[in-house]
Amino acid sequence: MDIQLSDEVSQAYLSEVGDILRNKEFLSLSLYEHHQWTTRFMHSINVSYISWKLARKFGCDEKVAARAGLLHDFCPYDFHKKTPTGEHQAFYHPKAAAENSERIFEINEKERDAILSHMFPLGPIPKNREAWIITMADKICATLEGCHIAIALARRNRVVVISASM
Ligand SMILES: [Fe+2]
Ligand SMILES: [Fe+2]
Repeated sequence: MDIQLSDEVSQAYLSEVGDILRNKEFLSLSLYEHHQWTTRFMHSINVSYISWKLARKFGCDEKVAARAGLLHDFCPYDFHKKTPTGEHQAFYHPKAAAENSERIFEINEKERDAILSHMFPLGPIPKNREAWIITMADKICATLEGCHIAIALARRNRVVVISASM
């Protein structure tokens, strides 16, 4: 599994998240449906890209916004299945995403907090500006995905996941 990126994707953005986008376990998010219409991978990269852009615009830490945005739903499993703790998926999956992110990538405290609070008001309140940006970007993407509207990197084949057999 690999990704193809068009020239329209900012190199400055890719320099912040390239290691995550080359990781096979992360790319496996493309196998999971998300918001009935897209994949968890496409949703995550859109949340990340929009968060990165907003962070640049408002003078926040764009690297934290890009990386935590990309990792906020890093959960390669079926969301319809029961959670191991019995918690509702809305409360469980941010913790699973933070754990997976810590296991595979070096995330800092700010990134961890942003991942854990992205479901606000379901779950903890965001502790920093980057976390607020991510929780807002997540809701914007979820709303548009719910309306079957392709935005940001989901448009014009800007990002395409290809399987190894292709
Ligand atoms: Fe989520
Ligand atoms: Fe999300």
